[in-house]
Amino acid sequence: MVEDYSTIDSCRICDSPSLYEFLDLGNVPPVNNFKETSESKIPEYPLEVVFCEDCNHVQLRNTVRRDLLFEDYSYFSSSSTPLIDHFGEYADSVENKFLDAGDLVVEVGSNDGVLLRQFSEKVRKLGVEPAENVAEKAREQYDLDVCTDFFSLDIAKDIASNYGFATVIAANNVLGHVDELHDIVAGVDYLLQEQGVFVVEVPYLIDLLNHVEFDTIYHEHISYFSIRPLTELFEKFKMEIFDVERVDVHGGSVRLFVQRESGTHSITNDVAYLSALEKALGLNERTVYDEFREEVRRRRQQLKDLLEHLDETGHSIVGYGAPGKGNVLLNYCDIGPDLLDYIVDTTPSKQGTFSPGKNIPVRPPSEFGDPYPDVALLLAWNYRESILEKEEEFRGEGGRFLIPAPNVDIV
Ligand code: TMP
Repeated sequence: MVEDYSTIDSCRICDSPSLYEFLDLGNVPPVNNFKETSESKIPEYPLEVVFCEDCNHVQLRNTVRRDLLFEDYSYFSSSSTPLIDHFGEYADSVENKFLDAGDLVVEVGSNDGVLLRQFSEKVRKLGVEPAENVAEKAREQYDLDVCTDFFSLDIAKDIASNYGFATVIAANNVLGHVDELHDIVAGVDYLLQEQGVFVVEVPYLIDLLNHVEFDTIYHEHISYFSIRPLTELFEKFKMEIFDVERVDVHGGSVRLFVQRESGTHSITNDVAYLSALEKALGLNERTVYDEFREEVRRRRQQLKDLLEHLDETGHSIVGYGAPGKGNVLLNYCDIGPDLLDYIVDTTPSKQGTFSPGKNIPVRPPSEFGDPYPDVALLLAWNYRESILEKEEEFRGEGGRFLIPAPNVDIV
């Protein structure tokens, strides 16, 4: 029988067996598997986080089988307007810096084409996306060429023989989803032109720890990256990080620019600065992770107490946004339909469903003002600014957002 999940006994990057477990978020269902009815039961899997004491890579102990997580995937990047803008700027900047007419850009984990479609028609574009329903949207709506598969060395060989080598390979918010990191980097190593650039965007561990973003920890996200372990991973393939930018997306991310060690881009000071910052913050020692665990427990208590108090004092409360992380928060803090009447979300495929684990109905945004609740728990807190701006009327009429991160707040 094929097990639903496997457990590692050594680090996914350096193979060291010295793994220190610092956080256990309990059993949680796959957070993007929204349910058709409130009765349908879905399995739950352990969510335990470990830190490698050798290369310092932070990762989940268990890997849930990917077909259980990604088969009918409900995450469409283009459902969030701020992400469309983010990737628009990204496409312009990468095209200006690294691409000429006719060059091939390949995106690993291309989702619904939110990045690829924003490159100009001068370059050739290919997406690689395992979720069939999501890949289909990129083909149908944006006429993009998408290969429906998990990127690997084998897929890289197929692509190279059909399309040639890539000048840019992009992987946004996807490296963290991969159990076999070596296979994906081997694929990049194969497919990338000699002077090509691998652009990687991943949520940054420093932001996760500093802002107590525990809800971004879920089964899809196997790795929580910092510069040091990534440097070690790329070194194994004779590649190096030559530039890094901190970007304000998904709660705080880093965009890394990687080339072969024989590449011609000079290494910017920012790479050394961020590595030094990681060391100064103690990312190579247990203490920082132990402190994070205590902060997560405190956060759970604060949120639960606050919501129960609001409920007992007669306030109507709903959830705003139904991202995967929202479902981690609801499950870990044990917040169910007794506290939240419903959740509003802009993603059509989530509307009319029930949140995994807590069974809270998900409704279209049009129901938010019909009538407005007293309080909205901002589960999509990473879009705080744009949502607050969009919902000015709600706040104007006395409604308040309860913000769970980076600090618990009511605005
Ligand atoms: P993400 O943080 O993983 O991008 O997911 C954000 C979720 O929040 C996604 O399901 C779309 C939803 N959302 C809204 O419902 N309203 C909004 O204004 C925004 C920006 C996102």
